[in-house]
Amino acid sequence: MKNFLDISDLTSNELRAIIEEAKVRKSNRKDLNKSETDSDQPFKGKSMVMIFEKPSTRTRISFDIAVKQLGGSSIILNPEGIHYGKGNETLKDTAKVLSEYADIIMLRTSSHENLKEFGKYLSIPIINGLSNQSHPCQIMSDIFTFEETKGNIGGKSIAWLGDGNNNMSNSLIEAASRFNFKLKIGCPDKYKPNKKIMLWAKKNNVDVLVTKNPSEAAKDVDCVMTDKWISMNDKVNKKAKKNSLKKYQVNKKLMKLAKSDAIFMHCLPVGREEEVTDEVIDGKQSVVWRQALNRVHAQKSIINWCLN
Ligand code: CP
Ligand code: NVA
Repeated sequence: MKNFLDISDLTSNELRAIIEEAKVRKSNRKDLNKSETDSDQPFKGKSMVMIFEKPSTRTRISFDIAVKQLGGSSIILNPEGIHYGKGNETLKDTAKVLSEYADIIMLRTSSHENLKEFGKYLSIPIINGLSNQSHPCQIMSDIFTFEETKGNIGGKSIAWLGDGNNNMSNSLIEAASRFNFKLKIGCPDKYKPNKKIMLWAKKNNVDVLVTKNPSEAAKDVDCVMTDKWISMNDKVNKKAKKNSLKKYQVNKKLMKLAKSDAIFMHCLPVGREEEVTDEVIDGKQSVVWRQALNRVHAQKSIINWCLN
């Protein structure tokens, strides 16, 4: 059984196959309506259960559409409305019951440990729909979007600005190893990538530069990425964190340092005029709405990878 918990769990070949399948499936359905099924319907008669411990717009809807396009159905659950490791039912028992009803689970959780714990007792695959540690589905969709615009990501360079120690930056570092791109992270000392991920990066020969200088990070890159300064459940002094990240804002001046045809990416939701200016996110270089759309296509191949 294959779980999709972290990019680092998969080989470069497996990840590449997921991206290539997404490209083929997206192009094959150019003339179909948004929720029409793919002709082969690989998920026909099957269902996905999704559990969200935290809010979501994109992950919730894109997985729902992905499952529909694959010919299956989805059930979206709120932990408050079910027995989910609470009261008289353990997480283990909930996992065993869900394994009887569905064919695959997607979990968005505040604790990465919940994914592992839940996964231990499930007899069906589980997909990480964002945890405090990583956001692998988003990064896979971002690789796909990058390649649609700029060709193979191998050898290309990406700048990550702002919070260098969150779920997105962790998954991006893992992806840099598996897809062989260069990464420059511009962030203050206080929000630099944690020791564990940097140790992993070293062991896995990731070409990553961490710098306090935002201009150095953005210089000559093919893509500039950022994320909300305050992640969901980020228990920090918000005002102090925002103040220390101010100079890492992606604005027109910073974008000018990147290659002239560089793209801007953001997983959304966005803190407008905080981590990015309206001018950049609404500008010509921004591909953020396509990133959101491509969640559907990348996740379809992730589901297929788990079930094959
Ligand atoms: N990018 C992303 O995961 O968005 P949601 O929080 O809306 O799912
Ligand atoms: N780092 C952000 C990503 C949102 C999709 C968060 O965890 O809130």
